[in-house]
Amino acid sequence: MDYAVEVKNLHKTFSSGLFRKRRKSALKGVDLMVPKGTIWGLLGPNGAGKTTLLSILSNLLTPEKGDVRVLGMDIRTHAKDICGRINLSSGHANFLWSMTVRENLEYYAMLYGLSGEKKRRKIENLLDLFRLQDFAKVRFEELSTGTKQKLSLSKALLNDPDLLFLDEPTVGLDPDVAHRIRDMIQHLHDDQGTTILITTHNMKEAEILCEKVTFIMDGRIRAKGTPRDLKKELHLGDTIHLAFQGALPIATLQNMEGIDHIEMKDSSCRIRVDNHRERLPQILDFFTAQRIIIHNINIQESDLEDVFITFTK
Ligand SMILES: Nc1ncnc2c1ncn2[C@@H]1O[C@H](COP(=O)(O)OP(=O)(O)OP(=O)(O)O)[C@@H](O)[C@H]1O
Ligand SMILES: [Mg+2]
Repeated sequence: MDYAVEVKNLHKTFSSGLFRKRRKSALKGVDLMVPKGTIWGLLGPNGAGKTTLLSILSNLLTPEKGDVRVLGMDIRTHAKDICGRINLSSGHANFLWSMTVRENLEYYAMLYGLSGEKKRRKIENLLDLFRLQDFAKVRFEELSTGTKQKLSLSKALLNDPDLLFLDEPTVGLDPDVAHRIRDMIQHLHDDQGTTILITTHNMKEAEILCEKVTFIMDGRIRAKGTPRDLKKELHLGDTIHLAFQGALPIATLQNMEGIDHIEMKDSSCRIRVDNHRERLPQILDFFTAQRIIIHNINIQESDLEDVFITFTK
């Protein structure tokens, strides 16, 4: 398999304070393999090391130990070759404050080696794509958070990167703007095959966008896989709520395969199962055989948020 990101045994310690004596170990032997062409989520609580990892991958920070290969190249020896083919957009972006949106894009376009008509066309396209035309002449310091984020994403697409790092791209955005940004990320991946490594605290967003996710906590990788794999690994299961009429032989139902727990309340029950898709038909057959009439069925699926909470508890 071709990997866009190959990280092995990565360590990063920050030194700060007086005489740089205060040390904080942010990454403690991280391994991460991201296949080309995927949208991969990097999830974890505040301070877990997500931004540090993305900063090392974008060559903004140097690690003290470990191997980092980006697009098949060693980051230490091929930084220049990698640089033109990757980009990073942060939800907490900082640009040249006194320059306008267009001036900022022109500045970065120049750094990426764009010039003349090609540069003009690229910038116009990005201003259109992110609906930034009305803000083209507004200085960065006057922009709202959402508009700053759109500028950050526009900047990240200037060089048509093969690999894009997105650090909380929708943080603090209105739901409709966040939705549009997610659509753009998905299109970028679907239309251009861009590999995307994204951090987010929005587990719904991760579940919508990411094929696979890696959980990092306190500088160490805790788990990786599809959201479904992780739910299974943690035995999170689903809950089926049933409102019914009749006497339910709980003991028999309790012994059925895949049923973890049953909670009764008047003429309704909550049944925790390993997987509702497999177990609901089974349960419905059981109710029918017992001649119990069901009035209402409600399914509550566990999600990545439950995975996150279980890991961080
Ligand atoms: N420049 C720095 N100097 C000292 N410590 C730092 C520095 N940058 C990050 N850290 C520390 O390294 C750890 C990892 O920080 P990092 O920003 O990578 O976390 P994160 O997972 O991105 O968190 P968040 O979800 O809050 O963005 C934290 O304990 C943080 O305080
Ligand atoms: Mg961060």
